[in-house]
Amino acid sequence: MKELKREKAVKLLNEIMEFELAGVVRYTHYSLMITGPNRIPIVQFFQAQANESLLHAQQVGEILTGLEGHPSLKIAPLEESNEHNVNTILQESLNHEKKALDLYKDLLDVVEDASVYLEEFARGMIGQEELHNIEIKKMLRDFA
Ligand SMILES: [Fe+2]
Ligand SMILES: [Fe+2]
Repeated sequence: MKELKREKAVKLLNEIMEFELAGVVRYTHYSLMITGPNRIPIVQFFQAQANESLLHAQQVGEILTGLEGHPSLKIAPLEESNEHNVNTILQESLNHEKKALDLYKDLLDVVEDASVYLEEFARGMIGQEELHNIEIKKMLRDFA
């Protein structure tokens, strides 16, 4: 096994935590902006995404502090497109999920062969974020 690059891992975990916390704000915002006759299940979907982002942020934060890192108080930057039709919101969500997937893949690169626990964690999160990407792509198909 390789030696774990602790500082590099902590830096990346902080970046991921900031990104997941931005997801909490993003998805809460979306859940509040959905209107129209079909809003109920879509609102619930975005509320669930917000809750899951918070859970991910907390899990990442626990690992970060376990590695003796100091958790950031910032969140990743968020743009406001002021477009609140469902198609645009889903497209923005897909961009967010793609970036989340990339971040966890970067994490896997750093921890692979250096920590069984962190490697398993990174793989598990990649699996979850892949599912989010698939789910949102499916929701977008309606609008094609
Ligand atoms: Fe996530
Ligand atoms: Fe996600």
